Amino acid sequence: MELPTVDLSFYLGGQESQGNECFKLKESLHKYGAVAIRDPRVREEDSEMFIDMLEKYFGQPKETKLKDCRPDVSYQVGVTPELTEWPRDNSKYIKGLKEQNKPTPFDGPDKKWRFQWRIGARREYTKFPELLAEPVIPENFPEWKQVMDSWGQKLLDAVFTVSEMLSIGLGLGASTLPELIRFGTHLLSPTGSDLNLYGDKPGTVLAGFHYDISFLTIHGRSRFPGLYLWTSEGERIPCKIPKGCLLVQSGAQIEYLTGGYIKKGYHEVIVSEETCRIVNEKRNRKESLWRVSSTMFTHLEPDKMLYPLIEISDAFLYPPVLAGFQVEEELKAVKLSVV
Ligand SMILES: [Fe+2]
Repeated sequence: MELPTVDLSFYLGGQESQGNECFKLKESLHKYGAVAIRDPRVREEDSEMFIDMLEKYFGQPKETKLKDCRPDVSYQVGVTPELTEWPRDNSKYIKGLKEQNKPTPFDGPDKKWRFQWRIGARREYTKFPELLAEPVIPENFPEWKQVMDSWGQKLLDAVFTVSEMLSIGLGLGASTLPELIRFGTHLLSPTGSDLNLYGDKPGTVLAGFHYDISFLTIHGRSRFPGLYLWTSEGERIPCKIPKGCLLVQSGAQIEYLTGGYIKKGYHEVIVSEETCRIVNEKRNRKESLWRVSSTMFTHLEPDKMLYPLIEISDAFLYPPVLAGFQVEEELKAVKLSVV
């Protein structure tokens, strides 16, 4: 099943159909917790260049990558090694799923590596300074800053447009959501999973069943399949993104802001039969077998309040909370926080 695709050029070009696109965007996030978008400002080559560099990075020896590790700031910048991140306990949610929609059995930690890089402007003053750690630049990658900043900024621009369209779709002023994320703690956060080790083992879980703590998460297309999404009805579907498109997923913060109208999107990444087939093809062509995701998490500014912006009957489930506190609580739950 392919996700609905929203073309941002209708909105950016101010065409008459822009209202329809805003509605389609809202509906897809409501139903699937995800939407595919086509942004005329993002080219497939940008994504390819980014993934090429990250394949080279993750393909380095473990000791080299560990030099880029900053556990003292909860891994918010630099590399997070494999077997560090634990998916949160979602057993209560899983219990309610039909048998055919249960996630792949898994008992963490995750097998994926991750690299975190800050994107976008920050305010000088914040109550949450630990989220503002200095960036890490790996040795031997002179192009690192330029490639990371350029890809991250493109994704961020896309999310700004999406958040404007979503504001309109939800019946809010167009600037409502963009204003909340303007100084957000956005993190370009690509993951790397070593399919040299797991590419012949279908059923291996690379990232266990979880949701993102973000506002919205955005990625380019990965070179390997294996991402599965849960719709808001709790149905498990393989995620297929049309070529040239980006994937946007809903995180915990957008659920809060919409009082549950848009639910946070659960997902997992596994080695599927199709992943193994691509691994074999790439092995024969002597290409990298690191599965890289070009992921960016966008967040609210930490000092903004999270609360439902639209009228809902279950507002009591979403009591107002500072966005920075929500992120701290979630980080503790996945064992990444030092506090
Ligand atoms: Fe995720």
